[in-house]
Amino acid sequence: MRPARSLGPVPSEVPALRGRTGFSELHRLRCRWTAWGRGGYPASFTPDQNRVYIPGMQTDMAYELLRQFASPVVAITSAWQGKTNGMISDSAVRASISPNVPRLSVYIHKWHLSHDMIWQSGRFSIHLLHRGQLDLVHQLGFVSGRDRDKLSSIPHGTGKLGLPILDDRVAAFEMRVLNTMDTGYATHFLGHVEAVHPGVEGEILTAPWFRANMPPAWAEEWRANYRKAQDVIEARSAIEDRHWTGPARS
Ligand SMILES: Cc1cc2nc3c(=O)[nH]c(=O)nc-3n(C[C@H](O)[C@H](O)[C@H](O)COP(=O)(O)O)c2cc1C
Repeated sequence: MRPARSLGPVPSEVPALRGRTGFSELHRLRCRWTAWGRGGYPASFTPDQNRVYIPGMQTDMAYELLRQFASPVVAITSAWQGKTNGMISDSAVRASISPNVPRLSVYIHKWHLSHDMIWQSGRFSIHLLHRGQLDLVHQLGFVSGRDRDKLSSIPHGTGKLGLPILDDRVAAFEMRVLNTMDTGYATHFLGHVEAVHPGVEGEILTAPWFRANMPPAWAEEWRANYRKAQDVIEARSAIEDRHWTGPARS
């Protein structure tokens, strides 16, 4: 008899599967979840593809490994022409190891309001968050500032660069854009830290922790947003010849 193969780590969205990663278990679930999939399963499906199916989302082992590179879940704020906004990201990373050259970078999808505000103003702030801030992730990361003034109900002040600084934070960093890189669907912004605002102590909010602890009532909306973003990314992966040349005139 063919031995059960380990398919590696199981996505945190599927707590019931943890510790049961044999192929036959996944195959059984695959059959059970056929109706959930986006357009069902590829006709070429074979066990060797190591695919994993979770309700409403199709993923694979390589994708789960890439997911390990997600950053902490951060709040990004921006200001432009009297308007302020905030969004959530898990793609913010340190871009320098020198304390004398403090830099961070982040990928922001082009269709977000924050993208346009940062592109125009050349400024943004990144907030490290703690685990008690799941509601903030819902407020800033599930709807666009194009549809709602998201910051009006969130206590905040104004920083050195005129950026919104959220009262509740582990720390906030105000940055000027130094450079950008086009990725087709997003812009990678490199920022130089101009001001630091320490906040409260707490366990840093990470992407796996967010996914494992988000209230079940949000899960469907989160998956729908995620799938929509994946569709745009797949349609707009070609790199555009677009270069940031400095802030626009206000
Ligand atoms: C946990 C989490 C991580 C996210 N990471 C990113 C990201 O790295 N880049 C991005 O462009 N959007 C990311 N988003 C999506 C935006 O935060 C979201 O679409 C937001 O509503 C955009 O708001 P805006 O249109 O007001 O700028 C993330 C959302 C969540 C909940």
